[in-house]
Amino acid sequence: MSHQDFVRTLRPDRNLGMELVRATEAAAISARRYIGKGNKNQADGAAVDAMREFLSTVDMQGVIVIGEGEKDDAPMLFNGEQVGSGIGPLCDIAVDPIDGTSLTAAGRQNALSMIAVSDRGSMLDASTVFYMNKLVAGAEGVGVLDIRLPIAENIRLLAKAKNKDVGDIVVAILDRPRHAGLIEEVRAAGAATRLMLDGDVAGGIQAAMYGSRIDMCAGIGGSPEGIVTTCAIKALGGFIQGVLAPKTDEETARGLAAGLKFDHVYEADELVSSNNTLFVATGVTDGSLVRGVSIKGPIIRTDSIILRGHSGTIRRIQSDYNSERWGQ
Ligand code: FBP
Repeated sequence: MSHQDFVRTLRPDRNLGMELVRATEAAAISARRYIGKGNKNQADGAAVDAMREFLSTVDMQGVIVIGEGEKDDAPMLFNGEQVGSGIGPLCDIAVDPIDGTSLTAAGRQNALSMIAVSDRGSMLDASTVFYMNKLVAGAEGVGVLDIRLPIAENIRLLAKAKNKDVGDIVVAILDRPRHAGLIEEVRAAGAATRLMLDGDVAGGIQAAMYGSRIDMCAGIGGSPEGIVTTCAIKALGGFIQGVLAPKTDEETARGLAAGLKFDHVYEADELVSSNNTLFVATGVTDGSLVRGVSIKGPIIRTDSIILRGHSGTIRRIQSDYNSERWGQ
């Protein structure tokens, strides 16, 4: 077997998560000084640079399938960019150095730095279409929910599957004018909303996590975030469906040319066709999933989570860094 063939047999493995978390920690630490300073591109730029630097030291042959930033001309790790040391498993990578750049700039809660990884060729490249309508829930939703159904029906079905009252179901939705109708429907069904300023990856993950206060995450958010969320949902055994939501005819044309399907429900296995996924996130600001990066005297503390699709393991990691070494 040639070296190249051997390398092709390697797949993202359990150690990779421990390596990748260094990159999300570095991104969160580098963004820290911009928290609450009002400039989201500065915060994102610092996170992107740190993430790129750390990714280059990780033993993998990664290609960025989902880079964040094109939506609003923000700094980015480019789609198609090769990352990693050049040896090791062939992987698809989705990066979001900060999900919640506006939250970070405003000093609000729930901003995360995140990376998702799966076997090479398994992530849907939805980069030509910026928005996706998503429905996310926990394992109880699998084979039960359907994004084509009215939200009230999905709420009823999920309540039944979870053996809960409809009145106890909480649906996380991005607080956007486009969701006014959806929000009304959820409340009219008797369920509660958890309106998010930003950050629907965290909303989706919490919807799928056992014991969380959120039962479902619904509505239109970023397509890149849809792929990242799917990598996490695979580890949590949860439910996700997505429908691309282009805003312009031009976007639709670009999507069609790239082989994307519209009026099509993308199931989890179409969004990410491998179950060998890793999802890694570090808190930038405090949130319900992880705490934000903090500094006390000589210690910078980060709080991270690693979800591994292959085993379904949820690993939480707290790291203390020497602030002087980081020039902070
Ligand atoms: P960024 O921080 O990368 O801008 O993303 C934040 C976010 O809220 C995502 O979590 C979400 O998927 C997307 O933006 C929604 O887009 P929009 O803010 O345009 O409605």
